[in-house]
Amino acid sequence: MSDSSVERGRVLTRAIGGLVSTAALAAVLFLFASDGLYLWIKAAHVIAVVAWMAGLLYLPRLFVYHCDAEPGSLQSETFKVMERRLYRAIINPAMVATWVFGLWLAWSGFAFSGGWLHAKIAAVLALSGFHGYLGGAVRRFAADRNTRTTRHWRFMNEVPTVLLIVIVVLVVVKPF
Ligand code: HEM
Repeated sequence: MSDSSVERGRVLTRAIGGLVSTAALAAVLFLFASDGLYLWIKAAHVIAVVAWMAGLLYLPRLFVYHCDAEPGSLQSETFKVMERRLYRAIINPAMVATWVFGLWLAWSGFAFSGGWLHAKIAAVLALSGFHGYLGGAVRRFAADRNTRTTRHWRFMNEVPTVLLIVIVVLVVVKPF
């Protein structure tokens, strides 16, 4: 290879390196400029919220169908697998992510102040309690020890809906 082509290769490598590091720096500045980071974390928070809510709304519905399945039947065993996977793989991690991102937003954007924020955290604590209650039910269904009726689980299906409405109104309208 001639000296001039080696030199051209070095120039090209340096130019690409420069472009890549400029793009990386721009991405870091964009992300960590306070507004950019805040909005990215808020987006992550809302995504986690959607996954958490989807699970909390679907699990009691699975329990409604599970109640009608004969213990030991193939259908009942299939519901057990679906419930366990939904709880462990979606609902638990989504709750942790919602809390982590939500607490960061509350600290960084509002220094944990505001009546709406305190009321929202109280409502989310209630939602987390409901989450724990469903976890106990997953274990009882897995051991064929559920004693609750279909009607009970239909009613339980409405609990996260009501809390969701309260939480979203509090955070969007911020009425107090
Ligand atoms: C775990 C405790 C939580 C805390 C500390 C928290 C806190 C926050 C904060 C401080 C914001 C930013 C508000 C703004 O920029 O105006 C926010 C946004 C939001 N949160 Fe939460 N949150 C939590 C859980 C939840 C839950 C469980 C839901 C829904 C069920 C939810 C729904 C939302 C929505 C929809 C937004 C976007 C609001 C907007 O941009 O107008 N959050 N959250």
